Amino acid sequence: MAQPAPPQPLNWTVVGQGAIGLLAACRLSRHGTNVTLWLREQRTVNVQFVAANQQSSFVFSMPSKALNAVLVPVKSYAVISAVQQLKANLAADAQLVISHNGMPDLALLQAQLLPSQGLWFLTTTHGAVTSGTENQIRVEHTGGGQSVLAPVNAVARLYARQVEPAMHTALGPVQQVEDILPFLWHKLAVNAVINPLTAIHNCRNGELRQPHYRRQLEAIIAEVCSVATASGYPLDIAATNDTVRSVMEKTAQNYSSMQQDIYRKRQTEIDAISGFIVRQANKLGLNVPENMQLQQQILQLQQRYL
Ligand code: PAF
Repeated sequence: MAQPAPPQPLNWTVVGQGAIGLLAACRLSRHGTNVTLWLREQRTVNVQFVAANQQSSFVFSMPSKALNAVLVPVKSYAVISAVQQLKANLAADAQLVISHNGMPDLALLQAQLLPSQGLWFLTTTHGAVTSGTENQIRVEHTGGGQSVLAPVNAVARLYARQVEPAMHTALGPVQQVEDILPFLWHKLAVNAVINPLTAIHNCRNGELRQPHYRRQLEAIIAEVCSVATASGYPLDIAATNDTVRSVMEKTAQNYSSMQQDIYRKRQTEIDAISGFIVRQANKLGLNVPENMQLQQQILQLQQRYL
C-alpha cells in the first residue's frame, strides 16, 4: 500500500502587523525560525521587540514562494477576506492557524480551503501592544499568557508534530486539544466581560476588579453561561467567575484589545463577542439584556468614527 508523503518542513508566514502577530513573529525569530510577513504591499518591516525588559530587533520581509504555514491573527471581522486573499498563494498542503477573539465560523473558514490544506484554531491570552510607524514598529509583550490549539480538519492532524512546537514557541505555552469549541466558549465569557467594559470605561483590565463593577460582571457571566449551556457547551457560573477574575488579575495592567480599538478609532470585534451571544440567545429564545446593552454601547462608540 502506498505510504502518504511525509509532511514538508514548514516555513512560517504571519499575516498582517497586528500586536499578537508581531509578538508571534518575534518569538519565532528569536528562536531561530525564519519568518516572513504577509502584507498588502511589498515592503520590509523593522521591529523592536520588548519582552521582560529585554530588547531585540528583527527585520521581516514578504514571502517569495508559495506559503505552506500561515498564522492568521487578524480581527474576527477580517478573517474570511484575509483567507480569501491568501488562497491563491497557498501550497496544496498548507497549514493555516487562525486566531482571533470571539466565535469563528469554522465551517465557512474550512470552505475556503482545499481538502488537502490543514486548518487550525488557536485562542490566546497573551497581551501585546504596538507603537511607532508602519515600517518601524515597537512591539511590547505586556502580558505573558497561554494558548489553546486544536486541529479543525483531519488533514491538520498529519502536521501536528510541526505545527504544535512552532505555536508553542510563538504563543506558548500551548495546550493542544481535539475540540476547540469548549475553550472558545470559555474565552468568549472572558472577552464578553473585559473587552466591552474596559472600552466603555476607557480603563485597564484590572480596574474592573473594583466592587462597583461586581453586579454587572456577574450578570454578564450568568447570561453567557446560560447561552453556552443551552448551546451544548456547559459553563459553570462560579467557575467562569473565577476564570474572569483570574484573567483580570493576570492582565491587570493591560488595556484590552477592544479598549485599544475604541481608543485608536478602529473597528472592534463586538460582533463576534457580544453580538454572537445576542444572536445565539435569540435563536435559543433566551434573554441577554446585559450583553445586548454592551453591544449597543460599543456600536454607538464605534459609530462616532466608522
Ligand atoms: O482581547 C483581549 O484584550 C484579551 O483577549 C484579554 C484576555 C481580554 C486580555 O486583555
